Amino acid sequence: MIAPSILSADFGALAEDVRTVDAAGAEWIHIDVMDGHFVPNITLGPAITGAVARATERLLDVHLMIESPERYLEDFAEAGAQVLTVHAETCPHLHRTVQQIRELGVRPGVAINPATPVHVLRDIVADLDLVLVMSVNPGFGGQRFIPRSIARLREARQLLDETGSEARLQVDGGVTADNAAAIVAAGADVLVAGSSVFRHPDGPAAGVAALRSATQGTHLRSV
Ligand code: DX5
Ligand code: ZN
Repeated sequence: MIAPSILSADFGALAEDVRTVDAAGAEWIHIDVMDGHFVPNITLGPAITGAVARATERLLDVHLMIESPERYLEDFAEAGAQVLTVHAETCPHLHRTVQQIRELGVRPGVAINPATPVHVLRDIVADLDLVLVMSVNPGFGGQRFIPRSIARLREARQLLDETGSEARLQVDGGVTADNAAAIVAAGADVLVAGSSVFRHPDGPAAGVAALRSATQGTHLRSV
């Protein structure tokens, strides 16, 4: 599945950009929330998430790059988030936070930064609907894919298979039509892409199409 990250969209024409990738067949819409503390950048909150929810029926996948995310889970759930992903690095009581997301009727995800060992997920994976392996250091769109992420995706895929988890395996950062096939072959089934979609020279629909054709023939799990 393809999850365009609206971080690289035109914020002045956000609803239009969202409708464009929706019509181009993107299955999920990825929303990057940053607080200027956990990551250096500041982006958007529940109000913009609500505006995106009104523009599309696609699944809203909200990636919380914020400290103390438990303070805002309810606001994002009310705004229309259907997946809420917190970072393992921000949650000393990760199990509790994941249960809180579930109690709100939202699918829980956990993200790990490039230097966080994949095995930190071992004792929580059974409770998750999504595992997010970051392939850049979170904070900005348009960064280069960290090559070691391929091995980390394989390791995460193995962990999901070993534990019988049905959770999706998502990758985020530097995903392009050039590396998408290798990423899917490593076991990822949700590809987040910001700049390669919204900054595609022929527009966002062409960006979605390029990722789709790059991964065609590679096995993708169904929605
Ligand atoms: C990075 C964000 C990503 C970002 C991806 O901190 O979590 O979702 O928007 O952008 P690209 O695809 O340009 O690396
Ligand atoms: Zn993201």
